[in-house]
This record gives sequence, structure tokens and C-alpha cells, in this order.
Amino acid sequence: MRVLRLSHVVAPNTPKGQALEHFAQLVERYSQGRIRVQIYPQSTLYGDADEVQALQFGAVHFIAPSLSKFGRMGLPEFELFDLPYAFDSLEQVRRVMDGVPGQLLLERLQRNGVHGLGYLHNGFKHMSAQHALLTPNDYLGLRMRIQPSRVLADQMQALGASPVALSFGETYPALQRKVVDGTENTASNFWTQKLQRVQSDLSLTGHGYLGYAVVTQQRFWENLPNNERALLDQAMRDALQWGNTLALEHERSSLQALRGTTALRVHTPGAAQTQALRRALLPVRQQLAQRIGSVWMDLLTEALHS
Ligand code: SIN
Repeated sequence: MRVLRLSHVVAPNTPKGQALEHFAQLVERYSQGRIRVQIYPQSTLYGDADEVQALQFGAVHFIAPSLSKFGRMGLPEFELFDLPYAFDSLEQVRRVMDGVPGQLLLERLQRNGVHGLGYLHNGFKHMSAQHALLTPNDYLGLRMRIQPSRVLADQMQALGASPVALSFGETYPALQRKVVDGTENTASNFWTQKLQRVQSDLSLTGHGYLGYAVVTQQRFWENLPNNERALLDQAMRDALQWGNTLALEHERSSLQALRGTTALRVHTPGAAQTQALRRALLPVRQQLAQRIGSVWMDLLTEALHS
């Protein structure tokens, strides 16, 4: 029997956790028990800081980093997905993933010896701190935990906050010890990491997207027997398609749970407040265009309106 290791950083009961669990079940079923995928969730095997290297060394076979974590692999174009207020819906994100920019990005992974298997949704991010974050003024002077993405750093700076890049696993302890004042994440990550215990206010800004690319080591993938590679590819396609239907339901149930948490105040920005946030964040787009070239911004715009 072949045993393959899959490592990720979030809780099992999240869109990513469930989709990857489904992948493991499908692999077992399609291979009639000849291939098993052993899953290590919640950074128990590798965390944000070492999972890519572990994949490149062949210590783990599959990882699913958030798209915000590919910039530091020398692929800043992935940060297109981090642009604030770039997407109105998951359907728009899907168009970009299935379109030219999304497919070009998966191909670019090969420069790092990595093979992209597909994309997976989590959902839209919201802002949290110890007070409501509804207008740019509310962010002044705050230290905000971000993922290691230049776009996310520029986003926080544009709002007058100081970005602090920390791994996912470090976020709860850093908020608890007040090393940082606030953060941004999706409702399902917020709820399953229990951030409501260390943050008193969640503002439903929905300003940015969080999703994943599931990847494997290129050499391992190419050296697999054809029938096994086809089986794993099919299982991943089926699991991602299934998993991509989960995001909205997770968003709904996690938000409901968060709204029911008495120690947490949940705020919704009004139209004028969202307008002010959008305006403050406009320069972030130009900053990214300068780094990756306006061709990528054009590809994004074309895919959004395709
Ligand atoms: C994840 O969803 O994989 C983690 C995102 C984060 O680091 O905030």
C-alpha cells in the first residue's frame, strides 16, 4: 500500500479541511485501498514557515497554502487574489481561477519544482480588533496580523495600520499576548481558531478573498505510474469541485455561531463607510501593478468581465 502525506494549517472542520478529507476518502475508494492519504491538519506536521520546503524536499506529498503565501516563493502575481475589493462574489473569483490568469499562475509554480493541482475556496475576509473597524480612521496605529503578502501589507498601511506578518499558527497566541491588536480572516477560520476569545469586535468588511492552491512536488508527480497519477488527479478534481460548494455554507454557519457569542460584538459597515474604505485602498492596486506589470492587471480585469 502507498501512503501519501498531506499537511495543512487549518482545523479539520473548515472548507479546506473537509475538501482534503474528501480527497483522502476518494483516493482510498478509487484505488480500492491501495493508496492512502494521511492528513496532518492544524500545522501538526508542518506550518506556514516550512511546508513549502518540506514539499520541495519530498517530506510531504501535498500541501494547500493560501494564495497569499505564494508571493514569498518568488511568485508575486499570486497576490492578485489579495487585492482589496477586487471581487464581488465567489463566482467572480472562479472566473479568474478558471480563466487565463488562474491557469498561468498554476503553470508558474513549475519554476519552483511545484505542480498545481487546482484551486479551492475559503471565502471573504473580515477585520477584527478590540473595537469596530468600519472606517479608515479606526485602523490608525493598530498592529494588524497579516499573511506574508506585500499586497496585504500595503492594504494595512493604506489604512494607517502597521502590518505584522505571522504564520497562521502564531496568530491566536500573538493576539492573546497583545503582540498584535487585530487581524483579518474568514468567518470559518475566525470561528474554528476561536479568535472570538481574544478579539472583542468583528467587522464584516468582506474586503478581501481567501483561497488556496493545492500543490504537489513536480518530480514526485511526474514519477508516479500513469494510472496512479490519473487516479489522484481525478480524486483531487472531484474533491475540489465538492469542496468549492462548501464555502458559502461555512460562512453562514460560522457567522451564525459568531453572532451568538455574547463576548463578541459583530458590526456591519454602512455604504458610506465601505466607500471610504474602498477609496483609502485604491493605491494598493497601483502598487501591485508596479510590481507585477499592468499586463497582469489587464488579465484580471478581462477575466472578471468574461
Ligand atoms: C489558511 O486558511 O490556510 C490560513 C490563512 C491564514 O494564514 O490566515
